Amino acid sequence: MRNVFLNPELEVKFQKDGYVRVPFISKEEVEELKQLFFDSLPSSGGQITAGETGVQNSNAITYDFTFIDKNPDYKRKVFDIITKRFKVATDAILDNYKPIIANYIRKQTETGEVPLHQNWAFANERKCSTISIWCPLVDSTVENGTLQVVPGSHKRFGEVRGPMVPWELDAIKKEIIERHLIPLETTAGECVILDDSIVHYSAVNKTNDLRLAIQLICIPAEMPSWHYNMDSSVSSNEVNILEVDVDFYFEFNPWKKPENFRKVKTIPYLHRAINEQEFMDRLNRPGFDTEKKTGFFAKIKELLKD
Ligand SMILES: [Fe+2]
Repeated sequence: MRNVFLNPELEVKFQKDGYVRVPFISKEEVEELKQLFFDSLPSSGGQITAGETGVQNSNAITYDFTFIDKNPDYKRKVFDIITKRFKVATDAILDNYKPIIANYIRKQTETGEVPLHQNWAFANERKCSTISIWCPLVDSTVENGTLQVVPGSHKRFGEVRGPMVPWELDAIKKEIIERHLIPLETTAGECVILDDSIVHYSAVNKTNDLRLAIQLICIPAEMPSWHYNMDSSVSSNEVNILEVDVDFYFEFNPWKKPENFRKVKTIPYLHRAINEQEFMDRLNRPGFDTEKKTGFFAKIKELLKD
């Protein structure tokens, strides 16, 4: 498995828990990035609403989130703002990773619950870990809706994750929120680096203050970026793996058929919901990236080894 971090101690902690919290940028950089959020806001195209997605029962997103902005140029601008100012810190911590998606996330008062989820998969997670750098620009607390995670849940669930792919934890979200999360209170300028496959959540901002954070998604520089695409009008039992680039995410739009990609392959997909007991059992088992291959040639290889 390819390393995420340059520092071996961080690597061990990350592989065990699925996240680490580290000092990241200076107070001055925090203030500059905060200012740039408000300065760039006039070029926002407004956000895609739940009704506009064309997806039935899609939840209204109650927080400001760059990724669903209607203006690709605004998304590009935010990407440039964030990647330019994060470069020194990310290069100093990560082992040759490249940014693919950059977001500002603002929760206004009494809004901004982010449902329990895993981030989409952004590369082949059997060969590497993709990460999100979550960097609050104000001190992030339980009261203002800080990030919460299920420690050790990375690579245990939902290997195939994309916008239309059903989620195996969907039926037990309430139980997980009630019993399995821990909040990660984080000071402005620190960041949490999380495995994109970790199960996470964040609650409503209960304060009257600004609650602004940055998310930068990074993948290993040498790895192609993958996007799992299910077209349920064709089949709910298969998923296409698309090779995509940064531009794909600028132009991404939930109701638009993807374009500008190379299809890697189509894989069979079988949806199965799991219960809370299985959820807990799997937390204590190795992740899907350590599973032994079970094909014919893999078996022969094992036999020969013995
Ligand atoms: Fe997330």
